[in-house]
Parts: sequence; C-alpha cells; structure tokens
Amino acid sequence: MEIQTRENFPNFVGFVSGVDLKKELNKELVEKIDEAINKLSVLVFKNQNINDDEQVRFTRYFGEIEASGKKSNITKAKDRRLSADLADVSNLDKNNKPFTKDDPRRIFNLGNRLWHTDSSFKKIPAKYSLLSARNISKEGGNTEFADMRDAYDCLDNNTKTKIKNMICEHSLIYSRQRLGFDMTKELSSEEIKNFTPVEQPLVRMNNLTKRKTIFLSSHIGKIRDWIRPDSMCFINDLIEYATQTQFKYVHKWSQNDLIIWDNRQTMHRARAFDDLKENRDMRRTTVLGEEQLI
Ligand SMILES: [Fe+2]
Repeated sequence: MEIQTRENFPNFVGFVSGVDLKKELNKELVEKIDEAINKLSVLVFKNQNINDDEQVRFTRYFGEIEASGKKSNITKAKDRRLSADLADVSNLDKNNKPFTKDDPRRIFNLGNRLWHTDSSFKKIPAKYSLLSARNISKEGGNTEFADMRDAYDCLDNNTKTKIKNMICEHSLIYSRQRLGFDMTKELSSEEIKNFTPVEQPLVRMNNLTKRKTIFLSSHIGKIRDWIRPDSMCFINDLIEYATQTQFKYVHKWSQNDLIIWDNRQTMHRARAFDDLKENRDMRRTTVLGEEQLI
C-alpha cells in the first residue's frame, strides 16, 4: 500500500494505491489504513469495483456497522432499496428511479448538501463513513470535506476558551429546518421521537493523535444554556469560518471511487447535481463510534 498526500497538505487527505478491496485484507494492512485515517481524516481509494457485501466486509475491519433505519432517515423499511447495513445516499427509490421533486425523501436527503458530520444527532455518533460511487452524475455531485482539526488549531485563543466546555444539541430536525422542511408537520409524533435532540461537546480530541477538533455540524440547533437565535448565529459563524478554502478538499467523483472519512474530525457536504433526471448511486456504510460523548 502506498499513500500520497497533496502538496502543502501533509496531514489532510490521502490517496491510497496498491489495495484491492475485493479481496480480504490482513490485520497488519487494516491497522495501517486505520492509522492513516486517524492522521489524514480522508482516504481516497480509486478503481474499487466492489459490491455491497465487499463494502460491508471492508467496513467491519474498523468496527461495528451502524444500522441505517428510522433514526437516520424517513424512508420506511418496506421502501428501502438497500440492506440495513448500508445508508442509501442516492437519489433513487427502490425501483432505481429518481425521486420526484416533492417527494419528502428527496427533500429530507437535501440535508446532505449542508455541512455536517454523519450521525452527530445520535448519542453514539459515527466514527468513520465509507462512500462508494456506484454510478455518478455527469455534472456536479462533488463531495467537499473540511478539516476540523486544522480549523481548531487556527482559532484565536478567545474563541478556543469560549468553546472549551460548550455543549451543543444535535438533531436531524434542526438541519432540516434550515431548509424549510418542517419535520414536526410531516411526521407523526411517534416518528418525531426518533429525532429527539442529543447533546455533544463542541470540542473533541482524537485519542491516538491527541489533536483537538471542532465537532461541528448543521445538525446543531442549540447551545446548552443559550437561546436558539444566539446559538444559531454563533454556530453559523463557526461553520463559515471552518469551511474556508484553506481547510477544504473538494472531491470530484469517478466511477468506483471509495472514500473513507473520519466524522470525528471532519465535516462534509454533497453538492448539487440534476437529481430529478440523473441517477447518482452512492452507497454508504458507517462505523459506529466507540463512546457516548456525554
Ligand atoms: Fe453525510
């Protein structure tokens, strides 16, 4: 295995070669990949023509898989296109047709266009996400990543002190509200319970590298002991700061790319494409975090 980084960015984003994900990997290689994720946060594997089972097998090397279900999406079990081991981040229904303009599932998925970390709205948030590009759009549909460790390091000391012990509330309801999608109107009170906000610290540390990171996400709707409008102004400013070009990597997908990223120390967002016409088939597996943060 070889890993190349970009000029001037030795600690963020690695391009991996010499690994075939259709094959089983030995423990030593898995450990090397795991170490690289912790150091580089985002790893890009090109030309990996894998199926769902191979993606699941590769994911399990890094921990338990987070099941995709009613706590992560509004798609009913009977309408799922993929098994519960995979999060369907395509624009497709179970007949492989693009969602229509007003379909609530489409509108819900538009939340992925906002900067976020996967599953920060769960008590045990996601550790790694693995996204496999099975079919890409002709235009658009890039994924952008921002380095929350570098963003933390570059903060001024006043802000570092201010956010040191800050606790934020995360919920899918908050991120969807930003788009004008009011889940409290669209879903039953029973369904809404699946999206009850959870509290997470805003500053985390990677125990291996000892680097601090801002655990930031558009799922944040409130800071503990703050009112919501103040919370939103502060978090919006911080997201704007942390996603400046200097902290950002833009990935233009090729067919069969697979990217692993570390949700503990990055944010990401999907970019627009002609989702009413084109089929963009992207399949995500997610490694469950190891701890409840609060
Ligand atoms: Fe995501």
